[in-house]
Amino acid sequence: MKHVLITGANGEIGHGLIQQLAQQADVAIYALDLHPLDPALQQHCALVQQGDITDPRSLAAFQDVSIDQIFHLAAILSTSAEKQPETAHRVNIEGMLNILTFAQRNGQQFNHRVTVLFPSSIAVYGIPSLAQKHSAGPVTEDQWVTPITMYGANKVYSELLGRYYSDFYRLLDPHTTRYVDFRSVRFPGIISAFTLPTGGTSDYAPEMLHAAAQGKPYACFVREDTIIPFMVMPDAVNALLWLAQAPGEQLTRRVYNVQSFSLTAQEFADKVRQFFPNFQITFDPDPQRQRIVDSWPAAVDDSAARRDWNWHPHYDVERAFTEYLIPNIRRRYATETVASEQ
Ligand SMILES: NC(=O)c1ccc[n+]([C@@H]2O[C@H](COP(=O)([O-])OP(=O)(O)OC[C@H]3O[C@@H](n4cnc5c(N)ncnc54)[C@H](O)[C@@H]3O)[C@@H](O)[C@H]2O)c1
Repeated sequence: MKHVLITGANGEIGHGLIQQLAQQADVAIYALDLHPLDPALQQHCALVQQGDITDPRSLAAFQDVSIDQIFHLAAILSTSAEKQPETAHRVNIEGMLNILTFAQRNGQQFNHRVTVLFPSSIAVYGIPSLAQKHSAGPVTEDQWVTPITMYGANKVYSELLGRYYSDFYRLLDPHTTRYVDFRSVRFPGIISAFTLPTGGTSDYAPEMLHAAAQGKPYACFVREDTIIPFMVMPDAVNALLWLAQAPGEQLTRRVYNVQSFSLTAQEFADKVRQFFPNFQITFDPDPQRQRIVDSWPAAVDDSAARRDWNWHPHYDVERAFTEYLIPNIRRRYATETVASEQ
């Protein structure tokens, strides 16, 4: 049996990840979230704990389990973090430290390596101008790591903390064993057909789609020409699971870029209109959120992930819309309409 702990389990990625892991008979899932776990997910979990990741006592419920993998998803996302930067720092950094300390102790207690999977973000990048963004081409993991947001800074430091616990923990103590195996993917904007995002700065894309499917107009908070990379939720979940399973000797880095497709906001709206011809959109840029997405790359170079652990998205832009987003989103809102009419 593989024992897997998921923090922030009730969030968007948590939903996708738990549904996917639940299909594997040999996995026991342990969940932590600040909020009560969605009842649809609870049935798949061996143990559910409601608690705050900044409080180490929240993790005590799992201390007698020999944890093999941790997916540390609990976080405050980019737009929310700019509204409450000190809180974001506490949750994103103290939470990270608590999970790494827990992993180190758990590994020591059961004498095994604990793989810690961390979803980082394109928010770690901070390209200083639009001209440089457009001339940069796909950005590698080591370029432009100069974020302009609290969230981006938190992600960079979390990556470094993970690297420290894996490779350098207690460097001055020759008797210390390092039990943490930290691995991270830098996600682009993620779009789910089943859950609506809150607090992210790439949320305009999924918001457009969910508004169109409900026949509602949408005021987009970024300009038409805004471009960043995206992927759909099943690919994001695959990226985490594949990196978790990759043999350690194949990995040449601890942090990897991944992406599926890049679209401008206008191109995304045009795509949505192909399926919902009556969709009405206006562009009403919010200067603060615009500044954030303008500092993120138009595309990332994910060749290291492709080479080291065979990363490849199943869904390019066409398949993302025709095979995943549109059918599932239509079904979702058709069911809701029927339910509200009954
Ligand atoms: N969704 C994206 O587009 C995207 C892109 C890049 C990276 N990420 C990263 O992936 C991870 C998960 O993102 P998501 O989209 O599922 O976010 P989400 O906001 O949907 O979920 C985060 C979850 O963390 C929980 N949480 C927040 N504070 C907590 C605390 N103090 N203690 C315990 N739980 C707490 C929330 O209740 C929520 O269920 C985050 O680290 C995020 O930064 C997401």
